[in-house]
Amino acid sequence: MDEFDVVVIGGGPGGYVAAIRAAQLGLSVALVDKGGALGGTCLNVGCIPSKALLDSSEFFARARDEAGRHGISLGKPKIDVSVMMKRKAEVVKKLTGGVASLMKMNGVKVYTGLGRLTGPNTVEVVAREAGADGANSKGSGGRDAGAGSSGGGQVLTAKRVVLASGSEPVELPVVPFDGETVVDSTGALEFDTVPKELVVVGGGVIGLELGSVWARLGAKVTVIEVLPQIMNGWDSRTAALMKRELGKQGIEFLLSTKVTGVETGGKAGGGRKATVTATAKDGSDVKVTADKVLVAVGRRPYTKGLGLEAVGVTLDDQGRVKTDVRGATSVDGIWAVGDVTAGPMLAHKASDEGMAVAERIAKVLGGAGGAGRVNYETIPNVIYTWPEAASVGKTEDELKAEGVAYRSGSFPFAANGRALAMEAVSGSVRILADEASDRVLGAQIVGPWASDLIAEIVTVMEFGGSAEDVARTVHAHPTLSEVVREAALGVDGRMIHAKN
Ligand code: NAI
Repeated sequence: MDEFDVVVIGGGPGGYVAAIRAAQLGLSVALVDKGGALGGTCLNVGCIPSKALLDSSEFFARARDEAGRHGISLGKPKIDVSVMMKRKAEVVKKLTGGVASLMKMNGVKVYTGLGRLTGPNTVEVVAREAGADGANSKGSGGRDAGAGSSGGGQVLTAKRVVLASGSEPVELPVVPFDGETVVDSTGALEFDTVPKELVVVGGGVIGLELGSVWARLGAKVTVIEVLPQIMNGWDSRTAALMKRELGKQGIEFLLSTKVTGVETGGKAGGGRKATVTATAKDGSDVKVTADKVLVAVGRRPYTKGLGLEAVGVTLDDQGRVKTDVRGATSVDGIWAVGDVTAGPMLAHKASDEGMAVAERIAKVLGGAGGAGRVNYETIPNVIYTWPEAASVGKTEDELKAEGVAYRSGSFPFAANGRALAMEAVSGSVRILADEASDRVLGAQIVGPWASDLIAEIVTVMEFGGSAEDVARTVHAHPTLSEVVREAALGVDGRMIHAKN
């Protein structure tokens, strides 16, 4: 029996970061991952491959639509999807290989197999049976832990266990995955040709990012969203702006529309492989043909086969592992981080929880753990389309609903020199600050590199800073960051390059 201070189940951004930090703090650590490459959904079939494809498709669209304006003649660009996919695979391989090296470098022992709790301090590593993945669905992201299999795997003992098993795509019973025509996000990262018509069910972050990839490469993309706005949970102004921008790129949106079924197998009209049926808000029937259907209606925590019930780890009403504010579960000694717990399903949230839990465990075990906390008020949220959308803290909708008195400043990229030079003028930065104290309460950005620009606001919020702090900070010229500064000036009605 192998003995460790900490055994982490799951090698994604929550689990592998927890493992590294725990090892840095002097603990003996094992990481159990189901196999394949380390890095979880994010590195293998999520954040990273989608960004690789977003970059390739953006490159293609700019060559097609903008090169001429720079005086560059390229002719009509063609895309070789297999080369694009090869590049994506190389990016993923570099990163997942990097995680494996980090494990070695930090002395974390990696076990390949499915981790299952057999007691509060024991984890059995069960060999993954061939074909166990997706046993419950044909979605390529699904994975069945082989729950109920006879066991007999290697048993590790742990003073503390960290659950970091992540999440899996939700399947819509009326549009079941078939792994071929109807796919989940993993499938939509692997099309071998550009579909002529792509239907995306769900106007959330995956739908918009992967819809953008294929739309830029020439697919006619139709997004069907059951709610009256895309980007559920984002403020209505940002969602409306993004819908307009993505609409300009040819993506069609059917809002307040409920998907009722799909017919596949080449029987569809127009020679397409599928027909998606839906009901519009006014009750009328909608039919959309497609070569491929991407269903991206959310993800659910992955808890199957972890042995949680047997050891008494409690789940909440949404099937997530219940944790307290420190990340401790209902069972002493068992902790949990990331998508399998409550909160936004974001890699950076998982990683921060991983670090925090490692610090706490090190302290409990008498080691040198430091501050183990995550500030849930300042977790940025990003959609990596073009323009990008980024948000942190409160939205105007929330502040109004909560009756908080606030001031706001908004500055458009169209009035920024760098954005003009880049011809990336869509969108704006909006900063919201408490009316009385001027403390920054939140910000929303739609525009070029919103993903990076939001970091300044996150930092200011982390320090409890004010809009005036940003307004008085020198920002290099000409940079996109000046848009953030101008928005902060705007909170006080003193923007220089726009009307206050
Ligand atoms: P999501 O929760 O972002 O969006 C799902 C959308 O589907 C919602 O707008 C919902 O109203 C809609 N929907 C639900 N049922 C529907 C139905 N029957 N018909 C039509 N629409 C329906 O979920 P998504 O896009 O699948 O992403 C899953 C998770 O992965 C999210 O929590 C997200 O945070 C995370 N993720 C984050 C990324 C990022 O940070 N850039 C990138 C990709 C995923």
